[in-house]
Amino acid sequence: MEFSELFQKRRSIRQYTGESIPAEHIRKILEAGLRAPNACNAQLWHFYVLVGKEKIEGLIPDVCRQEWIKKTAFVVVITENAEPLNARFGAEKGNLFVAENAGAAAENMSLMAAEFGYASCFVGAFDEDKCREYVGAKPEERPVLMLPVGVPAADVPLRDRKPFEEAVTILGDFVETAPEAKSDGPFRIESQYLPGAVFDDVGMPKATIHNANLEGARFSDINLKSGFFGGMTFEGSYFGNADMKNSTFEHIDFSGAHFVRADFSDAVFEDCKGLD
Ligand SMILES: Cc1cc2nc3c(=O)[nH]c(=O)nc-3n(C[C@H](O)[C@H](O)[C@H](O)COP(=O)(O)O)c2cc1C
Repeated sequence: MEFSELFQKRRSIRQYTGESIPAEHIRKILEAGLRAPNACNAQLWHFYVLVGKEKIEGLIPDVCRQEWIKKTAFVVVITENAEPLNARFGAEKGNLFVAENAGAAAENMSLMAAEFGYASCFVGAFDEDKCREYVGAKPEERPVLMLPVGVPAADVPLRDRKPFEEAVTILGDFVETAPEAKSDGPFRIESQYLPGAVFDDVGMPKATIHNANLEGARFSDINLKSGFFGGMTFEGSYFGNADMKNSTFEHIDFSGAHFVRADFSDAVFEDCKGLD
């Protein structure tokens, strides 16, 4: 799987089947965590890994009151000993560095888990002292993050992020080349099976999309003004920052589709379902 696909696949999931995960996959996920960048390569982390129902359920309610973790297959508790970095850089920087280490390790593990088809969710809200005691960590090891991993029982659409321009300030030269204008008329898709297709930051005014299965597709920052959509399924798809003014939708199944800042003003819907 391409990285650009993998990081879109990862999302925080809080519904799990309770199924276990083979030990060799658990090891690979943990090894991915240990490959993460970390300050001075001092590797001040230690991962305590709780595998199976009994060990995981023991976290609730004292260590962590998040019931959903019960059905995950294993939970990694990432601890960090900040002392060596605090001695070298001062406590403010040292503590920041180890938190960053833990975040990088957790992200590597969640991506590796996603590649195997598993899901995960960072957990920062737990009682550190009780956690330390529960896993038997040393007094100098601070539990920084927990990463429950399991077999997902549900999927959720990618969660919205702030627009690029709001979240990013670029200093210095950054000249983007405008995409080449197509001369062969408005965009058209007919009779296609395109589950999980991604339409990101594209202008498709007056597009025709007919007889296409776009289940789980993602439409973000998109201009679909005055388009025509007929005989399609958008089940579980996502529309964010989508301009769909004056569009026509006929015989469309929108069940489970997710709309964030989608403008459907003056759009016409005929024989559509899943829009309530
Ligand atoms: C440092 C950190 C702590 C988090 N703690 C929790 C938590 O305690 N419980 C939880 O359910 N989700 C937790 N999350 C997950 C976030 O809620 C989630 O990443 C965010 O809503 C974005 O959703 P996404 O990961 O699906 O894109 C945490 C995430 C981070 C990065």
